Amino acid sequence: MIYTLTMNPSLDYIATVDRFVPGMTNRTSKEIMYPGGKGINVSIVLKNFGYDSRALGFTAGFTGREIERLVKEAGIVSDFIPLENGISRINVKLRGEQETEVNGMGPVISVSDISLLFDKLDTLASGDILILAGSIPASVDDHLYEDIMDRLKGRGIRILVDATKDLLMNVLDKGPFLIKPNNHELGEIFGVTLKGAEECVPYAKKLQEKGAKNVMVSLGGEGGLLLAETGEVFSSPPPKGKLVNSVGAGDSMVAGFLAGYLHNNDYEEAFYTGLCTGSASAFSEELARKHEVDALLSQFGKSY
Ligand SMILES: Nc1ncnc2c1ncn2[C@@H]1O[C@H](COP(=O)(O)OP(=O)(O)OP(=O)(O)O)[C@@H](O)[C@H]1O
Ligand SMILES: [Mg+2]
Repeated sequence: MIYTLTMNPSLDYIATVDRFVPGMTNRTSKEIMYPGGKGINVSIVLKNFGYDSRALGFTAGFTGREIERLVKEAGIVSDFIPLENGISRINVKLRGEQETEVNGMGPVISVSDISLLFDKLDTLASGDILILAGSIPASVDDHLYEDIMDRLKGRGIRILVDATKDLLMNVLDKGPFLIKPNNHELGEIFGVTLKGAEECVPYAKKLQEKGAKNVMVSLGGEGGLLLAETGEVFSSPPPKGKLVNSVGAGDSMVAGFLAGYLHNNDYEEAFYTGLCTGSASAFSEELARKHEVDALLSQFGKSY
């Protein structure tokens, strides 16, 4: 089974106003709600490829119940731990001529809540896959990802980590199956500014030397690269298309990499599927769907 962890999921409320005027009453012309959070995004895209997953994490209050309902509606197994106090956050995106975001804080997660998460993680079995995506709420020890990896060590569970800074650096020696920084995050780690794929390769290599099996670096509209555990290096500009909304492109890339890898255990296929899944999300309002990925893969003479 594939598991995703979303520590601080949200109910995203996207309100479109024709012209947003601060300080005035603005009326929406369109509104949508969906469950937000990096792990949930990965679960949704995996489902779009036909892979089932269980969504782990914490929810609270009426917003938490709605997040769970929407996650289930998307065909994902909702396995969140309900917290006694607080509410899961609401992230408001106000779309006018510009996009303005107001992101909530989320509930406090206690040490005993974390132990419930570890109880769930103890049920994972050899062959299972776990995706740790996103930041950790302020109320939680920032060693959480390393602690999880230590707990699962030697049990044949592959772990993918999409995190930044110390959260990412501290898991490297635990041998994550995949890490996926973008070029800005990779540069930030080393105090440098990284632009093209070629500039990223030596720094990606350093992360691989520290223990990450596969290192995929995304470069937004410039595409991406993969240093695979086999020693192979893949790099490509993205497929051609029209940018609509790149939110969730990185999460989609992680899901696409995994879907591509699970197909034939082939890293070239994993790389191009990841690349095109990121772009498929960037080229549409919603997260990537399989037929969209397949259409983009055909630009490289490939298919899913
Ligand atoms: N403007 C774009 N045009 C084409 N493809 C894009 C564009 N933006 C993103 N992508 C695709 O999505 C992949 C991941 O994008 P990006 O580097 O923006 O991830 P990220 O910064 O981690 O995003 P996230 O906000 O989800 O964390 C890219 O490698 C690329 O394949
Ligand atoms: Mg990202």
